[in-house]
Amino acid sequence: MPKEINLTLKIWRQKDRHSPGKFEVFKIQGIDIDKSFLEMLDMVNEKLTKEGRDPIAFGHDCSDGTCGACGAVINGQPHGPVRGSSLCQLHIRNFKDGETLVIEPWRAKGFPIIKDLSVDRSAFDRIISQVPDAQALPVPKDAQCINCGACVAACPNASAMLFVAAKVSHLNSLPAPEKKIRMLNMVAQMDREGFGNCSNSYECEAACPKEISVVHIAHMNKYYRQVNLS
Ligand code: SF4
Ligand code: FES
Repeated sequence: MPKEINLTLKIWRQKDRHSPGKFEVFKIQGIDIDKSFLEMLDMVNEKLTKEGRDPIAFGHDCSDGTCGACGAVINGQPHGPVRGSSLCQLHIRNFKDGETLVIEPWRAKGFPIIKDLSVDRSAFDRIISQVPDAQALPVPKDAQCINCGACVAACPNASAMLFVAAKVSHLNSLPAPEKKIRMLNMVAQMDREGFGNCSNSYECEAACPKEISVVHIAHMNKYYRQVNLS
């Protein structure tokens, strides 16, 4: 594989949630394959800034897959083609020389676009706020959700079920009455935020950078039914 490759980037540009958006094409030459995807976007932004143009807005923070701030859909895949990886952990070596990448924001009613690739995920904050002491709860090893929203972006119905189910798994250490009310409140908030129903497509699991299993959705559904029957 060459040390440097050329890529064509078709990047979604949108001024704000009320403006129409469109793709803008960038031909980027000589990208070091050891660079991260976000470093490549920085390269594009340096060029845009030098030209006096508006840089591309995109979420980023930790660069090691722990904060959940990054995210974009690349050729239809949230966080790109590498399973179990967030966008900030994705490297240029995962693409072929001469490839065209279509880069879009998460698209979901519950995640309005702020600008370009950046979306408003405060709906997730409002769901999590139904568990005020969430930070103090032990997090199961298989449900270490980073609140990135890729599961919603991947779902044909923009369902947030994998996210909420992962959070419900965090409630297992709580006394039964408290667990029940927190779960019901999170589900009610999820519905208020306009996320769709789960359609069992499993796209959420495939897109999740923490590889959280849809088994958590099955557990939540079972618990929800039990609670409603009791
Ligand atoms: S369940 Fe996975 S994909 Fe969904 S928000 Fe959590 S970490 Fe991201
Ligand atoms: S920037 Fe923190 S998870 Fe990607």
